[in-house]
Amino acid sequence: MVETAAVDPDEEAVVRRLRTAGCVWAEDEARLLLEAAAGAELEALLARRVAGEPLEQVLGWAGFAGLRLAVESGVFVPRRRTGLLLDLAEAALAAAPADDDVAVPAPVVVELCCGVAAVATALLHRSPGLDVVASDLDPAAVRCARRNLGPLALVVEGDLFGGLPARLRGQVDVLVANAPYVPTGAIATMPPEARLHESPLALDGGADGLDLHRRIAASAGEWLSPTGTVLVETSVRQAPATAALFTAAGLDASVERDDELDATAVRATRPVG
Ligand SMILES: C[S@@+](CC[C@H](N)C(=O)[O-])C[C@H]1O[C@@H](n2cnc3c(N)ncnc32)[C@H](O)[C@@H]1O
Repeated sequence: MVETAAVDPDEEAVVRRLRTAGCVWAEDEARLLLEAAAGAELEALLARRVAGEPLEQVLGWAGFAGLRLAVESGVFVPRRRTGLLLDLAEAALAAAPADDDVAVPAPVVVELCCGVAAVATALLHRSPGLDVVASDLDPAAVRCARRNLGPLALVVEGDLFGGLPARLRGQVDVLVANAPYVPTGAIATMPPEARLHESPLALDGGADGLDLHRRIAASAGEWLSPTGTVLVETSVRQAPATAALFTAAGLDASVERDDELDATAVRATRPVG
């Protein structure tokens, strides 16, 4: 005789409601919602999810690189593909020249357009000695980033480089940004979870999607250390144009790709020599 595990009738009801609402991973979502709340509170969370709010905003956290990161309603939910920026940032930090004979200052990492500061938080979690600064224009994103990064990092509210401390000019070892890169006209074609529940500020990259990349490329050189690296998430289609912006700004740029994460990024450094 084959024994089957007893299914909690409440869980079955939650799965049914989620499935009816079109949630593809209904069983997984039900388990997380049941872990998070019970009774009226569970009902309220379920109602928000069934109405189309992203699961992460309903739960108040998103998984990234093995961490649970705080995410408020309306704030961009970190995507798995942004793991490429994390991998590239770790590689850049590992390759940074170190001088064993003198006391070197902590490597400086800046995450622009940080949202909940997924990359900066994962980097700081793995290397608590980093000097981390994160910045975003959206006060709700800044609140989340502060919760995630805690007291060991500085989070500022401002327009791109605008809020960064002046002490960082010429000192940034890794400048990382997943800035908005969706062309304005393509936002209407995005899934409703993004289009209706993430701030337009988090998505809209202007007419060709490159407005923010253009501005980051134009100013990155002022902030990078001599051996610093800029890492910017982009799409396969936009990557050549994103890379060309950094080349035009006098940096050496390459397109990096991770097929498993379905992720594309541009990496730029000062020319050698
Ligand atoms: C695509 S979301 C990415 C968030 C985060 N980097 C991530 O990957 O989870 C873009 C973020 O850029 C922020 N943003 C948009 N325009 C900005 C600007 N001019 N200056 C600073 N932040 C900006 C938005 O508020 C949003 O949090």
